[in-house]
Amino acid sequence: MKKVLVTGGAGFIGSHTAVELENASYTPVIIDNFSNSDRSVIDRLGEIMNTTPTLIEGDCSDETLLHRVFEEHGPFDGVIHFAAYKAVGESVRNPLKYYKNNLRSTEVLMQCMIEHGCKNLVFSSSCTVYGQPDALPVTETTPFQPANSPYGYTKQVCERMINEVVAANEGQFSSILLRYFNPIGAHPSGLIGELPLGRPENLIPYITQTAAGWRDELVVFGDDYDTADGTCVRDFIHVVDLAKAHVAALTYMESHDLTTEAVNLGTGDGVTVKQVIDTFEEATGVKFNWRMGDRRPGDVEKIYASSAKANDMLNWKTEKSLKDALVDAWNWQQKLPKP
Ligand code: WQD
Repeated sequence: MKKVLVTGGAGFIGSHTAVELENASYTPVIIDNFSNSDRSVIDRLGEIMNTTPTLIEGDCSDETLLHRVFEEHGPFDGVIHFAAYKAVGESVRNPLKYYKNNLRSTEVLMQCMIEHGCKNLVFSSSCTVYGQPDALPVTETTPFQPANSPYGYTKQVCERMINEVVAANEGQFSSILLRYFNPIGAHPSGLIGELPLGRPENLIPYITQTAAGWRDELVVFGDDYDTADGTCVRDFIHVVDLAKAHVAALTYMESHDLTTEAVNLGTGDGVTVKQVIDTFEEATGVKFNWRMGDRRPGDVEKIYASSAKANDMLNWKTEKSLKDALVDAWNWQQKLPKP
């Protein structure tokens, strides 16, 4: 079977993508340093998948290790590069952590891919590359605004790095840059899902942990934005839909001569934070404590995707709703042992 190296494959999106890779007859090989994921994910992947994926524990910035991975576990038909830190708020508080990890790992990976003749890179990018767009929905040609956070800037820099490396290695290297909007939810089995280490930065795990009694209350960061109810607007996409898009991107690259293409992955629907809270409570029947608070530095006011290019180019579209994602997130949360 076609082997695919999945960096950060024990993480939230990486683990769900490993499942969908096997479903599409690929063999995922995971490298992860468990800086923001738990080792138990690998065993639970073994319960969902026919074969527990091969795991190499280590850091993608470690050039010696990565060369050894290509030598001992390759050749790979492609690489999906998830390994990165991704919390907007944390990146504002600790920018060097983000610059060091997110940039260096991408640089080392591309060097290894070129030296080992691995041509296809699917890169985990983000809608944060757009900053606060002037017009919505966001298309792939929407010009980048200055990034609103160090996290978003690392994704802008990585996209440019990849574009320039592809151009300098014409025909030897190609890439699809997948710009995620807000990934949420969990595998319907409840065996894998979003489990940030420590206090969650992101909205949905904070909601489910508050609903489960792990947190006292959710603070909504700002209700004075120019939106329907004053809270921020985001495009929340089910992680299983997102995972399937990565398989579609790999499959596309196998049958097309490509250089670099950016593709938005969102539902096309923008919803407010308050609408998410209401949908969660309606879908699960569970009410939880929350209050309005101050804005969070680094947040954009509203952003949601045009997913027309993904629909046309990758023959992919979202199949699950916001309600599906919130129900799956809650199902996953209820199975977690309270820390
Ligand atoms: C969503 C909204 C917060 C927590 C994420 C990822 C980023 C990228 C884009 C993939 C914002 C509000 C949050 C809380 C709140 N995805 N919020 N109280 O910042 O949009 O970015 O999606 O690459 O990697 O981090 O997501 O979930 O942190 O915030 O009010 O306790 O929820 O202000 O409006 P964000 P988020």
